[in-house]
Amino acid sequence: MKTLSFMAPAKINWSLDVVGKRPDGYHNLHSIMQKISLYDTITIEEAKEDRLICDAELPTDEENIAFRAWLRLKEELGIGTCLHLFLHKEIPVAAGLAGGSADAAAVLNGINRFFRLDLKEDKLERLALSLGSDVPYCLMHGAAVAQGVGELLRRLPILPQYHLVVANPGFPVSTKEVFQAFSLAKVALHPDIEGLEEALLAGDIQGIGQLMGNVLEQVTLERCPQVAQLKQQMASLGLFPLMSGSGPSVFGLAWDQDAAWQAAQALAEDWPFAQAVHTL
Ligand code: C5P
Repeated sequence: MKTLSFMAPAKINWSLDVVGKRPDGYHNLHSIMQKISLYDTITIEEAKEDRLICDAELPTDEENIAFRAWLRLKEELGIGTCLHLFLHKEIPVAAGLAGGSADAAAVLNGINRFFRLDLKEDKLERLALSLGSDVPYCLMHGAAVAQGVGELLRRLPILPQYHLVVANPGFPVSTKEVFQAFSLAKVALHPDIEGLEEALLAGDIQGIGQLMGNVLEQVTLERCPQVAQLKQQMASLGLFPLMSGSGPSVFGLAWDQDAAWQAAQALAEDWPFAQAVHTL
């Protein structure tokens, strides 16, 4: 039987700024997004009926964005074959790490290869955006500057590899609720995204640590004191911490791999998820 396995890497936001609210309720962003070495794995195989099999407590019908990605592609292209999709989750769910978006993008890319569809980038991007605002970025490799709701993407040149710790307090946060509670008027300081881009290109860890910023922290930190605790603990371990996306995951930029490994070990004693990763 024909099968294919592929990995879906998580993302963090080196910086996340909100620059306006659109009439449809969505927010225009300015963000630097980065893929990291924390992966879900998806295997697809031809089958008699379409089915998603998942080893985490997630919906396995069309509610699941990975399954929806397959069904949408199938319908749009009139594909007659059915597939079983096996989804192995490592990325914490509803955690600000774009786990669902990563799975959906990996399904689009994987099925493009599986059936040799030769779909062009713009078609994949359009399908991706119809699934969620982080999905177009998740189709790409490396780091990118995202604007609009996430559909205007500028790929960054290959960056130095950075070592991070990603940790999570073990409960989900709804992106929708965070954006609903967010107030642009309350943002005292917008992150300097251009300065951060320069620091990232230069491998300037101190500069990156000082310039990283996420305006959604104002909402999630207030609602979830654990996120503030996690940030504080990371700082005391010598990391530069920032919440990723709408949270509650926090990443900490480390000086080197050894520092990331040691900090991850210490954090794993207090938190349900803490892992040393590197940028891709
Ligand atoms: O696009 P996605 O389904 O990931 O977004 C989840 C929710 O987050 C949206 O329904 C919207 O309320 C909010 N959102 C937003 N502005 C964005 C992205 C998401 O307001 N740029």
